[in-house]
Amino acid sequence: MSINFKELANKYGTPYYVYDFDYITNQYNELKTAFKARKSLIAYAVKANSNLSVIKHLANLGAGADCVSIGEVKRALKVGIEPYKIIFSGVGKTDDEIRQALEFGILMINVESAAELDRVEVIAKELGKVARISIRINPNIDPKTHPYISTGLHENKFGVDIDTAKRMYIQCKNSDNLEPTGIHCHIGSQLTQLQPIKESVQIIADLVRNLAAIKIELSFIDIGGGLGIIYDDEKLIDTNEYAQTVLETMFGLDITVVCEPGKFIVGNSGTFITKVLYEKVNGEKRFVIVDGAMNDLIRPSLYNAYHKSEVLNDNKEFSACNLVGPVCESGDFFAKNVQLPKTQHNDLVAIYSAGAYGFSMSSNYNTRGRVAEIAVENGEDRLIRKRETFEDLITLEEEFIK
Ligand code: LLP
Repeated sequence: MSINFKELANKYGTPYYVYDFDYITNQYNELKTAFKARKSLIAYAVKANSNLSVIKHLANLGAGADCVSIGEVKRALKVGIEPYKIIFSGVGKTDDEIRQALEFGILMINVESAAELDRVEVIAKELGKVARISIRINPNIDPKTHPYISTGLHENKFGVDIDTAKRMYIQCKNSDNLEPTGIHCHIGSQLTQLQPIKESVQIIADLVRNLAAIKIELSFIDIGGGLGIIYDDEKLIDTNEYAQTVLETMFGLDITVVCEPGKFIVGNSGTFITKVLYEKVNGEKRFVIVDGAMNDLIRPSLYNAYHKSEVLNDNKEFSACNLVGPVCESGDFFAKNVQLPKTQHNDLVAIYSAGAYGFSMSSNYNTRGRVAEIAVENGEDRLIRKRETFEDLITLEEEFIK
């Protein structure tokens, strides 16, 4: 569906994020359908885009939630995702987060170290509860993606090796307060090759079989997220082939498959719209300066990630430039050496594939208010987060001024 970016800019101002909710629906349904041969739970990775309306939209479709802080768990609960569809992952959960997760009665806690399992056991005992445990395996597989978003190698901080995991499952089995429930792996984001996924899921499926042999029966196999999206001209993993390959590794197992997509669901639904302030030339170098900045969309600065950008004018006179924001850092850019047409004050620039890890990684650096977020569904637009004002930014400090 085409979205009228200019109309939205007139109505809501710039910069803004806009998300196509119909696209989100299609992505969710495509994945859910691909797994139809088995019981499955699509637990949306809330970190990718944590806007309550986005999560609510997915909740209405039947999605669960993969959360990485108690704040994300609370977002999921707030919009009506049932506790039995919520998973809590992360290498460093605090006692308080573990306590709250147990009180909420979520589906399972993805435990990432032996030390964490001990803490969960102590806290569950204090509360007189039984904690449903899933253990995150680090399969030591190279996901062939950007090193910053690779998570499945032993050199990464995530999960535990297989021998440690086995000991942890036995501890669960022998404890009155722990119940071995699931197994988990997630090797990285923006995956465009199926082979590393296949290998890692094979490793955890084999472990499920070994555990069954010693009477530890798991109910959920959580294959993580990570399916790549189009930023440039990537060749993507076919969703049906993905599901088929994953399900083949589970042959003979009576187990529910869980997957935790973030980017796949929301990445290509979103566009960041910013407005040209000025152009200038420093020596030979042309700069197009816009009102959005790295604090709004940090992926180019942080990962040198490519996002396709387009100036929404009819000018045919293109030349190379850097597309930059007003923040006081040389790293504040959206694109370097891109061909863009000559611009004028107030021309709009669209930065595509910004629905995942865009707004959710934004900050208030340089005392810049976070931008507005807009949903478009069935041709109707609606504001789903107000633009932050200066007052919003200072409210937690104001009362302490001496
Ligand atoms: N499950 C776990 C345990 C995760 O750590 C992640 C992402 C996901 C699922 C969802 O991954 P996705 O399907 O969205 O790739 N900020 C980076 C991506 C960081 C991903 C962190 N973990 C980026 O902008 O590319």
